[in-house]
Amino acid sequence: MTKQQKYETALSQLRSLLDGETDPIACMANTAAALHDTFGFWWTGFYIVRPSQPAAGCEQELVLGPFQGPMACLRIRKGRGVCGTAWEQATTIIVADVHQFAGHIACSSESNSEIVVPLKTGDRVIAVLDIDSRQYDCFDQTDRHYLEQVAQLIADRIESSRE
Ligand code: SME
Repeated sequence: MTKQQKYETALSQLRSLLDGETDPIACMANTAAALHDTFGFWWTGFYIVRPSQPAAGCEQELVLGPFQGPMACLRIRKGRGVCGTAWEQATTIIVADVHQFAGHIACSSESNSEIVVPLKTGDRVIAVLDIDSRQYDCFDQTDRHYLEQVAQLIADRIESSRE
């Protein structure tokens, strides 16, 4: 199967699996599992925008959510690392070589490339989908195209739970 075909299959599985489910953790957990299994990524998961702990000195942080892969850092501040930058800029970031990204947060020394896709409701980022690969230059515009659809699918489910 081509990458496109794998994404089409995963998306259609997720659309039917998540149909009617509005719990963010349940949706994120199965999405991380589906993508991780389908593509064999090194780390696949979510960081969720949450209120900071009192001593943090900022209002919100990204907090580790459902994921597949090795243990990862728990909290990321806005503007920090690839995840915090994608949150701040509210846009997808593709990093071909994480060792060249100033401020990259290395949760694992095995990771060499990364894509981070924000989950948005309107203009507001509510979480990010973060995927790491051991391969350099693993992610391209095809990944971006489909992963943005995955992110929107989950953001819509979460949004509908708040209505
Ligand atoms: N590399 C990320 C941190 C999260 S881990 O990759 C799971 C970053 O720079 O934001």
